[in-house]
Amino acid sequence: MHKKLLEAEPYPPSEDTFFLADHIKDEKGKSALDIGAGSGYLSSILEKSFSLVVGTDLLFNVLRKQDYHTANNICCNGADVINHQFDLIVCNMPYLNTENISDVRTDGGKNGLEIPMKIIDSAKSCIKPKGKFIYVTSSLSDFKKLISYTKLAGFDVGILAKKKLFFEELILVRGIRLLS
Ligand SMILES: C[S@@+](CC[C@H](N)C(=O)[O-])C[C@H]1O[C@@H](n2cnc3c(N)ncnc32)[C@H](O)[C@@H]1O
Repeated sequence: MHKKLLEAEPYPPSEDTFFLADHIKDEKGKSALDIGAGSGYLSSILEKSFSLVVGTDLLFNVLRKQDYHTANNICCNGADVINHQFDLIVCNMPYLNTENISDVRTDGGKNGLEIPMKIIDSAKSCIKPKGKFIYVTSSLSDFKKLISYTKLAGFDVGILAKKKLFFEELILVRGIRLLS
């Protein structure tokens, strides 16, 4: 891995983090997974109402330097090494529309879809039937295509909330995993 990535600092909790946090703070259940946990801010909120919370991140150094220390972290792509079905999965996606992935913390690749699609592929088998997948994307990405992709992955999908910022609109998507 590139030296710059090995030394990367966690993505600091930002507008998109707080937007997702506001909508998950009242969620309850046995187990929750925070994909792309970064600073651990969202995992630490989930730890208040779920007995098992796992965070994953592609960057080992980011997990090592978490500001919000959480109990269970795994360094992997999406949920690739996890063999558990969670009640809830959350993800503040790296959604920026970029030609290349130069900053893993924010870049989503072409149309802001490449990385979010990989994360959805990886997450879908780790959610209980009727479990929830809540993620943040943005008007800066092709969010309509991402929503269609989430439907095809076996979720009943809707937009939970939107938030206008100066240069973009944040979009919170909720998928409920269908039974079959
Ligand atoms: C926008 S930041 C969100 C960080 C934190 N969850 C928050 O809301 O503040 C996205 C995080 O996803 C991680 N990430 C990017 N691609 C990933 C992948 N394929 N699998 C797991 N984590 C990934 C990045 O390293 C980064 O920490």
